[in-house]
Amino acid sequence: MIKVLFVCLGNICRSPTAEAVFRYHTKQAGLKVMVDSAGTAGWHQGQPSDPRSCKTAADFGYDMSKIRSRAIIPSDFHTFNFVLAMDYQNLSDLEIIRNGQGTRPQLFLDFAHQLSEREIPDPYYGGKTGFVDVLHLIEQASAGLLAQLQA
Ligand code: 4NP
Repeated sequence: MIKVLFVCLGNICRSPTAEAVFRYHTKQAGLKVMVDSAGTAGWHQGQPSDPRSCKTAADFGYDMSKIRSRAIIPSDFHTFNFVLAMDYQNLSDLEIIRNGQGTRPQLFLDFAHQLSEREIPDPYYGGKTGFVDVLHLIEQASAGLLAQLQA
């Protein structure tokens, strides 16, 4: 079975949203995929996702209620076939944790071929890229990844 891990900083906004969106679409497509998410930092370990992310996801039909935050562990690079970072900082942090062993992390937006953006910005502190923008970026990258897995 293909195993996909989404990674951001805190694992309470972007990567759990990606987990919920991608799980929904793979289920709809009848594709058996194991989907999980993690943070490069463990600050929110065990906590539910950010209520703003949960609300935005629910508005678009995705359920994040059962997801709890966890930090990435080195064995994840051996468990997962895809380790997908939201931004360049996540990517460089992941390369340090990976230490040359196992699956090489990639940017999630590498699968959104129609977009020029490379990063899904952190919405936590209320920057110009808001929670709905983040969800739309995630939906586009999810569609690209799903298409690749079905090809
Ligand atoms: P995420 O957003 O990486 O998309 O989950 C963040 C969540 C929490 C913090 C930073 C980013 N934080 O500093 O606690």
